[in-house]
Amino acid sequence: MTEKMEEEVRSENCKIGPKGDSESSMNKDSSHVILIDASPKVSEKSVSEWFSDYCRDYWKNESFTVEQINVRKSIKNADLTEVYKRMEKADAYVIIFPLYFFCMPGILTRFLQDYVCFFLEHSEPVRQKKKVYAVVNCGFPEPENNEEAIHVIKSFSEKIQAEFGFGISLGAGPMIYGAKDAPFMKKVFHNIEEALTMIKEDILAGERKPEQQTLKNVYLTANFPRKLYLSFGSKGWIKTAKANQLEKGELYKRPYSK
Ligand SMILES: Cc1cc2nc3c(=O)[nH]c(=O)nc-3n(C[C@H](O)[C@H](O)[C@H](O)COP(=O)(O)O)c2cc1C
Repeated sequence: MTEKMEEEVRSENCKIGPKGDSESSMNKDSSHVILIDASPKVSEKSVSEWFSDYCRDYWKNESFTVEQINVRKSIKNADLTEVYKRMEKADAYVIIFPLYFFCMPGILTRFLQDYVCFFLEHSEPVRQKKKVYAVVNCGFPEPENNEEAIHVIKSFSEKIQAEFGFGISLGAGPMIYGAKDAPFMKKVFHNIEEALTMIKEDILAGERKPEQQTLKNVYLTANFPRKLYLSFGSKGWIKTAKANQLEKGELYKRPYSK
């Protein structure tokens, strides 16, 4: 890969903004936050990617710089060492991802495992203690489903000797994104913004003292009738089956059972 191509790939995977437009504008007197979004979706806009943009815009006037990293594109295109070196310079990560089979998507597991190896192999003389936050969204309306995945991020942050802040757990993720402008979503967005303010304040407060209370996860979901939500979900599966030349009945097949 030529130097120019490498630079193009890097800037597609890692967007710095809106306070800093280039690496050189990253002001080390202020904190630097990296939003890591990790949906495996290729062509559809993902809830996680949208949430990453939402955080970036919400924090655009804050006194810290914000950078975005997309895990799927980073794994596909670039030298991950370059990405990990950028991560080393940050003060905080907000890791944003969908729930897949009650845990995190495989691409994120791999990305974080490799980062832990990088972390252990590269002993920096002085490492600032980082803060880590998780934002998990799931398809089912119950945000409690995300609890284990948040726990995995906590465990990751222990491995890199970082301080885990808390998780924002979103149930009915596709609806929160899809109906974001609907009046019945106002309360959820008010609560999301409160949680983002908590992250901001925690980042700016610096290292937490042992006597300070640990922060609690925030659980949010769409204020919408559960039955209706699930029936919309089922219709979506049937539509997807048809688009893939399958009949509704074939969704109930159990090829693995005897
Ligand atoms: C392979 C796969 C596994 C999933 N597993 C779960 C799950 O265990 N529980 C759940 O509530 N939602 C599950 N979902 C739904 C996603 O979490 C949900 O659609 C989410 O909004 C996708 O976020 P994204 O757009 O950022 O990828 C799964 C979706 C896929 C494609």
